[in-house]
Amino acid sequence: MHELPPLTAASKPQLYAELLDQVTGLLRGETNLVANAANFAALVYHTLPDINWCGFYFRDGDGLIVGPFQGKPACVRIAHGRGVCGAAAVSRQTQVVPDVNAFPDHIFCDGASRSEIVVPLIRKDGSLLGVWDVDSPVLARFDDDDRAGMQALCAVFMASLVQTRAA
Ligand code: SME
Repeated sequence: MHELPPLTAASKPQLYAELLDQVTGLLRGETNLVANAANFAALVYHTLPDINWCGFYFRDGDGLIVGPFQGKPACVRIAHGRGVCGAAAVSRQTQVVPDVNAFPDHIFCDGASRSEIVVPLIRKDGSLLGVWDVDSPVLARFDDDDRAGMQALCAVFMASLVQTRAA
């Protein structure tokens, strides 16, 4: 088991900075997609407060298919452009949804979800790997600090998949 030191952050940006260090260490030396996605989801789920689901949807044909996650079993496939995940995939912009009930096309996987953030995962060649999706049971759980923090975490995840040293 990978033991991680407890986080001591006093502010949200500091929490993300500490989490970023932990993610970097956790994924170092491994490029396997499923292994890194699984450990990434587990670390975030057990570190950030007020999260009821977090995980990956990977591009599959025109749509998305669920990947490694933490939380209750989720919708398996999301059709092209549908839901918050589809909006992030098509627009290639991070989606911050303060109230999922006010997002007309939101797809409920866990009825406890009240707010959500979805970050598109773009490879260096410009192609879409998928999206990183985080749900909270708290309204307006995610703000610009979370947007910046999640995007930084996802950048480390994406970099981990690329071999950077001679085998
Ligand atoms: N709420 C997402 C679907 C995935 S679940 O949250 C795990 C959406 O609207 O795309």
